[in-house]
Amino acid sequence: MAKIIVANWKMNPSSLKEADTLLSMISKNIGNIKNNKIIICLPFPFLYLFKKYKNKKIILGAQNASCYPEGSFTGEVSPKMLIEMGVKNVIVGHSERRAQGEDNKIINQKILNLLKFKINPILCVGETNRDKEGSYLSFIENQIKECLVGISKKQINNIIIAYEPIWAIGATGIRVATKEEFIEIKIFIKKIISDIYDSKIAHSIPIIYGGSVNYLNSKSFTEEGGADGLLVGRDSLNFKKFSAILETLN
Ligand code: 13P
Repeated sequence: MAKIIVANWKMNPSSLKEADTLLSMISKNIGNIKNNKIIICLPFPFLYLFKKYKNKKIILGAQNASCYPEGSFTGEVSPKMLIEMGVKNVIVGHSERRAQGEDNKIINQKILNLLKFKINPILCVGETNRDKEGSYLSFIENQIKECLVGISKKQINNIIIAYEPIWAIGATGIRVATKEEFIEIKIFIKKIISDIYDSKIAHSIPIIYGGSVNYLNSKSFTEEGGADGLLVGRDSLNFKKFSAILETLN
C-alpha cells in the first residue's frame, strides 16, 4: 500500500540558501518513490522555491493557514494565497501551535476554510502524556470530535489524521512511541470516525504517525504498525536521513 510521508520543516532551516539547497537535493535526488506520496511542508517565506524545481513526485505543503478567507488579519496567510503558491496540503492542530493558544474550535474553522479552497488538511492530534487511567483516550476523542464539527462525509475524504503524541516529539521527547501504542490509537481513531461517519470512511481515512521518526524506526510504524504514513520533523531537514526513511518504504 502506498504511504504518505509528510516532512514538517517547522521554523527551519534558518536561511533561504539552506532551504534552497535542501529542496534542490530532495527534488533532484529523490529517486524511486513508487506510489508513495511525499508532502514537504515549508515555512511560508520558502514556499516560492518549490516552483523552481517542478518535481512531480513532491507535493507542496504549508504549516498553517488562517481560519478566515480574507480581510484585516495582520500576520495571517489565507488558503487562497497558499493555493496560488501551489500548496496542496496544510498541517493543522500541531501541538506546537496548540501550545501557542490554538484550540479545537479554531482548528475546526481552519479545516473548514481550507476545504472551501480545496486544500487538504493534515489534522494532528495527540496527548501530552499517557496516564494509567487512560484519560488520554477521551482527550484524543475530544480533539477529533471538536476539530471535525460540520465536516461532511464528502469532505472527510480529503483529510489525513496524524497521531503525534507530544511526549514523543523532538529532542525533548521522552521516547518514541511503540508500534503497539500506535496500533491502539489507530484502532481508537477509526472507531471514532466510524461513529461520526461510517465504517467505510473509517476504513479508508489515512492515519499517519509522527514523533521522532527516523530511518531505524520508520518501518516498524508503516509495516508492523499499519501506519498509512509518517510525519517527520528533525530528520526531514537532513537529506541523507530523510531519503533513508523513504528507502525503508520501498
Ligand atoms: P520530530 O520528528 O522532530 O520529533 O517532530 C515531529 C513533529 O512534530 C512533526 O510534525
